[in-house]
Amino acid sequence: MQTMRRRIYTDGTIASSEITPETVFLNRRAFIAASAGSAWPWSAGAAQSATDRADLAYSPDFDSTLEAEKTPVEAVTSYNNFYEFGTDKSDPARHAHAMTTDPWTVSVGGLVEKPGELHLEDLLSGFDLEERIYRFRCVEAWSMVVPWIGFPLSDLLRRFEPKSEGRFVEFKTLYRRSEMRGTRSFGSIIDWPYREGLRLDEAMHPLTLLAVGLYGKTLPNQNGAPLRLVVPWKYGFKSIKSIVEINVTDQQPATSWQTLQSKEYGFYANVNPDVDHPRWSQRFERRLPSSIFKPNRVPTVPFNGYGERVAGLYDGMDLRRFY
Ligand code: MTE
Repeated sequence: MQTMRRRIYTDGTIASSEITPETVFLNRRAFIAASAGSAWPWSAGAAQSATDRADLAYSPDFDSTLEAEKTPVEAVTSYNNFYEFGTDKSDPARHAHAMTTDPWTVSVGGLVEKPGELHLEDLLSGFDLEERIYRFRCVEAWSMVVPWIGFPLSDLLRRFEPKSEGRFVEFKTLYRRSEMRGTRSFGSIIDWPYREGLRLDEAMHPLTLLAVGLYGKTLPNQNGAPLRLVVPWKYGFKSIKSIVEINVTDQQPATSWQTLQSKEYGFYANVNPDVDHPRWSQRFERRLPSSIFKPNRVPTVPFNGYGERVAGLYDGMDLRRFY
């Protein structure tokens, strides 16, 4: 029988993968669909059963610490940055519903052997969706713990076969003025479309995820539906939302925040308590939910706690210079 891996990554520990028969895996996917409330349009149509639940809950390396720290879903979906819909943290939840996410196509090009444009359903059909609980740390010093649903970006890139000259990956967000009020407003500060970039080895790292859901449901628009990046050891601004274009390049791509203010936002954006933002310290973070009375302040750790797995990517680099 053909087998597939099902992995639930948690706190950056290397997941020893469990091999699950494909039928069980597909059922698990259907379980996610069935539990979603909102539909997973691309999911397999098998029925939900008690075994599926057991399969979802079981993982040999499941980290109960992070499970217990999960940020309430209300905070994750109501306190957002998505400048296409406004600059206030509450704007995305109020206005992002105007964005049409179906149909959705993603083009993958640049230095790849097989460039192409794929409908989201076709793009997702070959991948095993996984649930991974990651810490998420914004450059503005707030943080969350989020159970994402997604698949490794490397799985997607491999399909398009990056050429040997490829050194970086560039990402672009949908830019549709009619549906994105923040892009129409006077004084909108970003040169649309929103852009991000990673070095190719960062993009191929197994922790780097393309997320399609959170908390067992399809991504809400304000969190970057239908497809967004999650790089858990970097500041949140690298997590580009609502991706429509991915290119492999040989030059370091321009990114929105670096273009806007290069002294404040670097290309690497690795979480680093030793390198302050010019306007504030990065030594502590406010773990949401937080308030004046309960600030929930915790010390920030290098690489957001994923250093063991990713620090090697930056061997020999001066991280104060390449911030
Ligand atoms: N992606 C796009 N297209 N537009 C944005 O304004 N903001 C970034 C990032 N991705 C942003 C974006 C910033 S600054 C952060 S902190 C995270 O999204 C926030 O993700 P969240 O709202 O899901 O927490």
